Amino acid sequence: MRIPATVHTPPFNITRASHAVWSVADLDASEAFYTQVLGLVVTAREGDRLYLRGVEEVCHHSLVLARRAGKPVCDRIGLRVYQDDDLDRAFEHFSKAGLPCAFVEVPHQGRTLHVSDPLGTPLEFCASMPLVERQLTQFHTYRGGCAQRFDHYQLLLPDVAAAGDFYMGLGFRLSEYMVDASENPMAFFIQRKGNPHDIAIMNGPGPRIHHVAYTTVDVHTLIQACDVAGSLGHGRKVERGPGRHGPGHALFVYFRDPDGHRVELFNTHYLTLDIENAPVRWDPSNIHRNLPWGLPAQRAWFEEATEFAGVPLAAPSVKPNPLTLERFLMERA
Ligand SMILES: [Fe+2]
Repeated sequence: MRIPATVHTPPFNITRASHAVWSVADLDASEAFYTQVLGLVVTAREGDRLYLRGVEEVCHHSLVLARRAGKPVCDRIGLRVYQDDDLDRAFEHFSKAGLPCAFVEVPHQGRTLHVSDPLGTPLEFCASMPLVERQLTQFHTYRGGCAQRFDHYQLLLPDVAAAGDFYMGLGFRLSEYMVDASENPMAFFIQRKGNPHDIAIMNGPGPRIHHVAYTTVDVHTLIQACDVAGSLGHGRKVERGPGRHGPGHALFVYFRDPDGHRVELFNTHYLTLDIENAPVRWDPSNIHRNLPWGLPAQRAWFEEATEFAGVPLAAPSVKPNPLTLERFLMERA
Protein backbone atom coordinates (compact mmCIF):
# COMPACT_ATOMS: atom_id res chain seq x y z
CA MET A 1 0.00 0.00 0.00
CA ARG A 2 1.18 3.51 -0.75
CA ILE A 3 1.37 5.53 2.45
CA PRO A 4 0.79 9.24 1.80
CA ALA A 5 3.80 11.37 2.63
CA THR A 6 3.62 13.76 5.54
CA VAL A 7 4.75 17.30 4.77
CA HIS A 8 6.86 17.97 7.85
CA THR A 9 7.08 21.70 7.17
CA PRO A 10 3.42 22.30 6.35
CA PRO A 11 2.04 25.48 4.81
CA PHE A 12 0.48 26.42 8.16
CA ASN A 13 0.55 24.99 11.64
CA ILE A 14 -2.45 22.91 12.75
CA THR A 15 -2.17 21.97 16.42
CA ARG A 16 -5.15 19.67 17.04
CA ALA A 17 -8.73 18.66 16.39
CA SER A 18 -10.63 20.95 18.71
CA HIS A 19 -14.40 21.09 18.34
CA ALA A 20 -17.56 20.17 16.48
CA VAL A 21 -20.97 21.74 15.89
CA TRP A 22 -24.06 19.60 15.43
CA SER A 23 -27.81 20.09 15.45
CA VAL A 24 -30.19 18.81 18.11
CA ALA A 25 -33.97 18.85 18.40
CA ASP A 26 -34.33 19.62 22.11
CA LEU A 27 -31.66 21.66 23.90
CA ASP A 28 -32.98 20.76 27.37
CA ALA A 29 -32.81 17.02 26.66
CA SER A 30 -29.36 17.37 25.13
CA GLU A 31 -28.06 19.54 27.96
CA ALA A 32 -29.23 16.95 30.49
CA PHE A 33 -27.60 14.10 28.55
CA TYR A 34 -24.26 15.79 27.93
CA THR A 35 -23.85 17.20 31.43
CA GLN A 36 -25.23 14.31 33.47
CA VAL A 37 -24.06 11.28 31.49
CA LEU A 38 -20.85 12.50 29.85
CA GLY A 39 -20.05 15.12 32.49
CA LEU A 40 -19.42 18.02 30.12
CA VAL A 41 -19.52 21.57 31.51
CA VAL A 42 -21.89 24.25 30.18
CA THR A 43 -19.96 27.39 29.23
CA ALA A 44 -22.98 29.25 27.90
CA ARG A 45 -26.50 28.79 26.61
CA GLU A 46 -27.51 31.55 24.23
CA GLY A 47 -30.74 31.34 22.28
CA ASP A 48 -30.64 28.17 20.20
CA ARG A 49 -27.02 27.35 21.01
CA LEU A 50 -25.46 25.45 23.88
CA TYR A 51 -21.69 25.67 24.31
CA LEU A 52 -20.05 22.76 26.11
CA ARG A 53 -16.50 21.90 27.17
CA GLY A 54 -14.63 19.20 29.09
CA VAL A 55 -13.70 19.73 32.73
CA GLU A 56 -10.02 20.41 31.96
CA GLU A 57 -10.68 22.68 28.99
CA VAL A 58 -10.10 26.43 29.34
CA CYS A 59 -11.17 27.39 25.84
CA HIS A 60 -14.79 28.46 25.46
CA HIS A 61 -16.21 25.36 23.78
CA SER A 62 -15.39 22.03 22.25
CA LEU A 63 -18.93 20.97 21.38
CA VAL A 64 -21.67 23.31 20.17
CA LEU A 65 -25.26 22.10 20.06
CA ALA A 66 -27.48 24.06 17.69
CA ARG A 67 -31.23 23.64 18.13
CA ARG A 68 -32.84 22.99 14.75
CA ALA A 69 -35.75 20.97 13.42
CA GLY A 70 -35.20 18.23 10.86
CA LYS A 71 -32.64 15.50 10.44
CA PRO A 72 -29.80 15.83 12.96
CA VAL A 73 -26.67 16.90 11.10
CA CYS A 74 -23.15 18.06 11.81
CA ASP A 75 -22.52 21.61 10.66
CA ARG A 76 -18.75 21.60 10.87
CA ILE A 77 -15.69 20.13 12.56
CA GLY A 78 -13.07 22.41 14.04
CA LEU A 79 -9.29 22.44 14.01
CA ARG A 80 -6.99 24.76 15.90
CA VAL A 81 -3.97 26.47 14.39
CA TYR A 82 -1.06 27.75 16.44
CA GLN A 83 -1.18 31.46 15.71
CA ASP A 84 -3.46 33.90 14.01
CA ASP A 85 -1.20 34.34 10.97
CA ASP A 86 -1.45 30.60 10.32
CA LEU A 87 -5.00 31.41 9.21
CA ASP A 88 -3.71 33.73 6.50
CA ARG A 89 -1.32 31.05 5.28
CA ALA A 90 -4.17 28.53 5.35
CA PHE A 91 -6.33 30.86 3.26
CA GLU A 92 -3.53 31.26 0.73
CA HIS A 93 -2.87 27.50 0.64
CA PHE A 94 -6.51 26.51 0.13
CA SER A 95 -7.09 29.26 -2.42
CA LYS A 96 -4.15 28.04 -4.47
CA ALA A 97 -5.49 24.49 -4.20
CA GLY A 98 -8.81 25.66 -5.63
CA LEU A 99 -10.78 24.94 -2.46
CA PRO A 100 -13.37 27.66 -1.77
CA CYS A 101 -12.59 29.22 1.59
CA ALA A 102 -13.75 32.28 3.46
CA PHE A 103 -13.22 34.10 6.73
CA VAL A 104 -16.41 34.17 8.79
CA GLU A 105 -17.61 35.58 12.09
CA VAL A 106 -18.28 32.83 14.64
CA PRO A 107 -19.38 33.69 18.19
CA HIS A 108 -16.80 32.99 20.92
CA GLN A 109 -14.00 32.23 18.47
CA GLY A 110 -11.18 34.33 17.09
CA ARG A 111 -10.90 34.87 13.37
CA THR A 112 -12.33 31.73 11.75
CA LEU A 113 -11.65 30.26 8.33
CA HIS A 114 -14.19 27.98 6.64
CA VAL A 115 -13.19 25.51 3.94
CA SER A 116 -14.24 22.04 2.84
CA ASP A 117 -11.75 19.25 2.30
CA PRO A 118 -11.65 17.62 -1.17
CA LEU A 119 -14.21 15.01 -0.02
CA GLY A 120 -16.65 17.74 1.01
CA THR A 121 -16.12 17.67 4.80
CA PRO A 122 -16.86 21.16 6.18
CA LEU A 123 -13.91 22.35 8.28
CA GLU A 124 -13.27 25.46 10.31
CA PHE A 125 -9.94 26.72 11.55
CA CYS A 126 -9.34 29.21 14.34
CA ALA A 127 -6.37 30.21 16.45
CA SER A 128 -8.13 31.30 19.63
CA MET A 129 -11.23 31.27 21.78
CA PRO A 130 -12.09 33.26 24.92
CA LEU A 131 -10.72 31.66 28.07
CA VAL A 132 -12.93 30.35 30.85
CA GLU A 133 -12.15 28.67 34.17
CA ARG A 134 -10.55 25.24 34.13
CA GLN A 135 -12.72 22.93 36.23
CA LEU A 136 -10.11 20.18 36.58
CA THR A 137 -9.61 20.51 40.31
CA GLN A 138 -13.27 21.25 41.09
CA PHE A 139 -13.79 17.58 41.96
CA HIS A 140 -17.03 18.25 43.80
CA THR A 141 -18.59 19.30 40.48
CA TYR A 142 -17.63 16.17 38.54
CA ARG A 143 -20.59 14.36 37.02
CA GLY A 144 -21.14 11.15 35.05
CA GLY A 145 -18.20 10.29 32.83
CA CYS A 146 -16.20 13.38 33.88
CA ALA A 147 -15.31 14.11 30.22
CA GLN A 148 -11.95 15.81 30.42
CA ARG A 149 -11.03 17.13 26.99
CA PHE A 150 -11.95 16.85 23.33
CA ASP A 151 -9.50 14.47 21.70
CA HIS A 152 -10.51 13.45 18.17
CA TYR A 153 -13.24 12.73 15.69
CA GLN A 154 -13.76 9.84 13.35
CA LEU A 155 -14.90 10.47 9.80
CA LEU A 156 -16.36 8.12 7.23
CA LEU A 157 -14.98 9.21 3.88
CA PRO A 158 -15.43 7.71 0.42
CA ASP A 159 -11.73 7.90 -0.51
CA VAL A 160 -9.31 7.19 2.32
CA ALA A 161 -6.24 7.56 0.08
CA ALA A 162 -7.31 11.00 -1.17
CA ALA A 163 -8.10 12.10 2.37
CA GLY A 164 -4.65 10.91 3.47
CA ASP A 165 -2.99 12.95 0.74
CA PHE A 166 -4.92 16.07 1.77
CA TYR A 167 -4.45 15.90 5.53
CA MET A 168 -0.88 14.58 5.51
CA GLY A 169 -0.08 17.40 3.09
CA LEU A 170 -1.16 19.68 5.96
CA GLY A 171 1.35 18.06 8.30
CA PHE A 172 -0.73 15.26 9.82
CA ARG A 173 1.30 12.13 10.62
CA LEU A 174 0.10 8.56 10.36
CA SER A 175 0.11 6.66 13.65
CA GLU A 176 -1.82 3.53 12.63
CA TYR A 177 -3.61 2.28 9.52
CA MET A 178 -5.71 -0.58 8.18
CA VAL A 179 -5.43 -2.18 4.76
CA ASP A 180 -7.63 -4.79 3.13
CA ALA A 181 -6.44 -7.98 1.45
CA SER A 182 -5.90 -6.06 -1.81
CA GLU A 183 -3.70 -3.49 -0.05
CA ASN A 184 -6.37 -0.79 -0.27
CA PRO A 185 -6.27 1.66 2.65
CA MET A 186 -9.38 1.19 4.80
CA ALA A 187 -8.46 3.44 7.71
CA PHE A 188 -5.88 6.12 8.49
CA PHE A 189 -5.35 7.31 12.05
CA ILE A 190 -3.62 10.68 11.76
CA GLN A 191 -2.40 13.14 14.35
CA ARG A 192 -0.91 16.55 14.96
CA LYS A 193 -0.87 16.71 18.77
CA GLY A 194 1.36 13.74 19.51
CA ASN A 195 -1.06 11.00 20.49
CA PRO A 196 -2.56 8.31 18.19
CA HIS A 197 -5.09 10.46 16.43
CA ASP A 198 -6.77 13.78 15.95
CA ILE A 199 -8.71 12.40 13.00
CA ALA A 200 -9.62 8.77 12.36
CA ILE A 201 -10.49 8.37 8.69
CA MET A 202 -12.48 5.24 7.84
CA ASN A 203 -13.62 4.00 4.46
CA GLY A 204 -17.37 4.32 3.92
CA PRO A 205 -20.20 6.31 2.37
CA GLY A 206 -19.53 9.91 3.20
CA PRO A 207 -18.50 12.38 4.19
CA ARG A 208 -20.10 11.60 7.56
CA ILE A 209 -18.93 11.99 11.15
CA HIS A 210 -18.95 8.72 13.06
CA HIS A 211 -18.17 10.14 16.49
CA VAL A 212 -16.42 12.76 18.54
CA ALA A 213 -14.31 11.53 21.44
CA TYR A 214 -13.51 12.90 24.88
CA THR A 215 -10.95 11.56 27.32
CA THR A 216 -12.12 10.53 30.77
CA VAL A 217 -10.28 10.00 34.05
CA ASP A 218 -10.01 6.24 34.40
CA VAL A 219 -11.84 2.92 34.11
CA HIS A 220 -14.09 3.82 37.02
CA THR A 221 -15.43 6.95 35.33
CA LEU A 222 -16.10 5.01 32.12
CA ILE A 223 -18.26 2.62 34.10
CA GLN A 224 -19.80 5.46 36.09
CA ALA A 225 -20.94 7.11 32.85
CA CYS A 226 -22.70 3.87 31.91
CA ASP A 227 -24.26 3.59 35.38
CA VAL A 228 -25.50 7.18 35.25
CA ALA A 229 -26.88 6.59 31.76
CA GLY A 230 -28.75 3.55 33.06
CA SER A 231 -30.16 5.23 36.14
CA LEU A 232 -31.40 8.21 34.10
CA GLY A 233 -33.11 6.02 31.53
CA HIS A 234 -30.42 6.36 28.86
CA GLY A 235 -29.15 2.78 29.22
CA ARG A 236 -29.98 1.89 25.61
CA LYS A 237 -27.87 4.80 24.47
CA VAL A 238 -24.76 2.91 25.61
CA GLU A 239 -24.10 1.58 22.13
CA ARG A 240 -20.81 -0.22 22.37
CA GLY A 241 -18.43 -1.18 25.16
CA PRO A 242 -16.85 -1.03 27.59
CA GLY A 243 -14.11 -2.68 25.56
CA ARG A 244 -10.57 -2.18 24.41
CA HIS A 245 -9.57 -1.02 20.96
CA GLY A 246 -6.78 -2.65 19.02
CA PRO A 247 -5.75 0.53 17.16
CA GLY A 248 -5.00 3.20 19.77
CA HIS A 249 -5.31 0.61 22.61
CA ALA A 250 -7.91 2.72 24.41
CA LEU A 251 -10.52 1.45 26.83
CA PHE A 252 -13.73 2.86 25.40
CA VAL A 253 -17.49 3.29 25.59
CA TYR A 254 -19.67 4.74 22.83
CA PHE A 255 -22.92 6.57 23.55
CA ARG A 256 -25.64 7.82 21.21
CA ASP A 257 -27.02 11.19 22.26
CA PRO A 258 -30.79 11.96 22.18
CA ASP A 259 -30.52 12.81 18.45
CA GLY A 260 -28.37 9.80 17.55
CA HIS A 261 -25.01 11.60 17.36
CA ARG A 262 -22.27 9.32 18.67
CA VAL A 263 -19.79 10.25 21.41
CA GLU A 264 -16.91 8.13 22.65
CA LEU A 265 -15.37 8.27 26.10
CA PHE A 266 -11.96 6.68 26.47
CA ASN A 267 -9.21 6.65 29.03
CA THR A 268 -5.87 5.84 27.47
CA HIS A 269 -3.65 6.78 24.60
CA TYR A 270 0.09 6.74 23.98
CA LEU A 271 2.76 9.18 22.79
CA THR A 272 3.47 9.46 19.07
CA LEU A 273 5.46 12.69 19.11
CA ASP A 274 8.87 11.42 18.03
CA ILE A 275 9.40 11.62 14.32
CA GLU A 276 10.91 8.18 13.90
CA ASN A 277 7.74 6.46 15.24
CA ALA A 278 6.69 4.05 12.51
CA PRO A 279 2.95 3.72 11.78
CA VAL A 280 1.32 0.51 13.00
CA ARG A 281 -0.34 -1.65 10.35
CA TRP A 282 -3.63 -3.46 11.06
CA ASP A 283 -5.59 -6.04 9.09
CA PRO A 284 -9.33 -5.25 9.43
CA SER A 285 -10.21 -8.93 9.15
CA ASN A 286 -8.07 -9.80 12.19
CA ILE A 287 -10.83 -9.56 14.74
CA HIS A 288 -8.88 -10.71 17.74
CA ARG A 289 -6.20 -8.06 17.30
CA ASN A 290 -8.62 -5.28 16.43
CA LEU A 291 -10.84 -5.86 19.44
CA PRO A 292 -8.95 -7.94 22.00
CA TRP A 293 -12.05 -8.23 24.21
CA GLY A 294 -15.47 -6.69 24.63
CA LEU A 295 -19.08 -7.34 23.79
CA PRO A 296 -20.37 -7.47 20.21
CA ALA A 297 -20.53 -4.22 18.29
CA GLN A 298 -24.03 -3.52 17.08
CA ARG A 299 -24.50 -3.32 13.33
CA ALA A 300 -25.55 0.30 13.80
CA TRP A 301 -22.05 1.16 15.04
CA PHE A 302 -20.66 0.13 11.66
CA GLU A 303 -23.38 1.57 9.49
CA GLU A 304 -24.88 4.67 11.14
CA ALA A 305 -23.21 8.07 11.32
CA THR A 306 -24.11 11.75 11.22
CA GLU A 307 -24.23 13.46 7.83
CA PHE A 308 -22.89 16.97 7.28
CA ALA A 309 -25.43 19.70 6.63
CA GLY A 310 -26.13 20.06 2.94
CA VAL A 311 -23.28 17.78 1.86
CA PRO A 312 -24.23 14.96 -0.51
CA LEU A 313 -22.99 11.45 0.20
CA ALA A 314 -20.68 9.55 -2.12
CA ALA A 315 -20.14 5.81 -2.23
CA PRO A 316 -16.65 4.65 -1.30
CA SER A 317 -14.21 4.16 -4.16
CA VAL A 318 -13.07 0.90 -2.55
CA LYS A 319 -15.96 -1.33 -1.58
CA PRO A 320 -15.53 -2.73 1.93
CA ASN A 321 -15.47 -6.50 2.05
CA PRO A 322 -18.93 -7.43 3.41
CA LEU A 323 -17.50 -10.69 4.76
CA THR A 324 -15.29 -8.74 7.15
CA LEU A 325 -18.28 -7.08 8.80
CA GLU A 326 -20.40 -10.25 8.84
CA ARG A 327 -17.58 -12.24 10.33
CA PHE A 328 -16.90 -9.51 12.86
CA LEU A 329 -20.52 -9.52 13.99
CA MET A 330 -20.90 -13.28 13.96
CA GLU A 331 -17.74 -14.04 15.88
CA ARG A 332 -18.86 -11.89 18.73
CA ALA A 333 -22.49 -12.96 18.75
FE1 LIG B 1 -12.55 7.26 18.61
